[in-house]
Amino acid sequence: MANNHPFRIGVLGSGKGSNFAAIASAVAAGTLPAEIAIVLSDVADAGILALARERGLPAQFIAPGKFRTKLEEDAERAFVNALNAAQVDLVVLAGFMRVLKGDFLRAFEGRIVNIHPSLLPSFPGLASWKQALDYGVKVTGCTVHFVDAGVDSGAIIGQQTVPVLDHDTAETLHQRIHAAEHELYPRCVAALARREILVQGRRVIRKLP
Ligand code: GAR
Repeated sequence: MANNHPFRIGVLGSGKGSNFAAIASAVAAGTLPAEIAIVLSDVADAGILALARERGLPAQFIAPGKFRTKLEEDAERAFVNALNAAQVDLVVLAGFMRVLKGDFLRAFEGRIVNIHPSLLPSFPGLASWKQALDYGVKVTGCTVHFVDAGVDSGAIIGQQTVPVLDHDTAETLHQRIHAAEHELYPRCVAALARREILVQGRRVIRKLP
């Protein structure tokens, strides 16, 4: 990561964009020393694009192609090109619901992070809050991790716990996990932007001051 310009992030999302909004608010408040260089979505009417445009940020829809869970080759190239054109230092997945493959991962090796709504390695995949509720765990939470070729399997940067309450429904638990995500994600991205993070294999640690 270059050190002589403001840290530039590109955000990818498929949904309403509340994590993006938390990150944008932290940038605006000065607690996250970065610039949001571009926001991209595979969903034309995704809330994340509208939120980005409201903030005057460059936002673009890129058609994902014919697959349901991954990007078609041309689409993947278009995402990579847009992120490169925006000169991003870090790719931040904020509810991006497609698995990224080889060429994308190689283009931004070690520079892609994701947020997941469980304490990984428990409950990877979809609807993790519901998986946690159905399993009967008493504590769940959210995880920020680097993205590798697996599903929700990359090295863990940060986690925040959320208790599962006796009267929780999938909906109430999901809401509290979301609230925890909005604290955790900006904090983790800020640590990366400040270059405070050291990666030692699977262990991701804070550099000593
Ligand atoms: C978040 O809860 C995030 O953890 C989840 O999508 C939601 C996006 O919400 N991501 C995944 O499940 C990825 N496997 P948002 O659009 O409001 O930020």
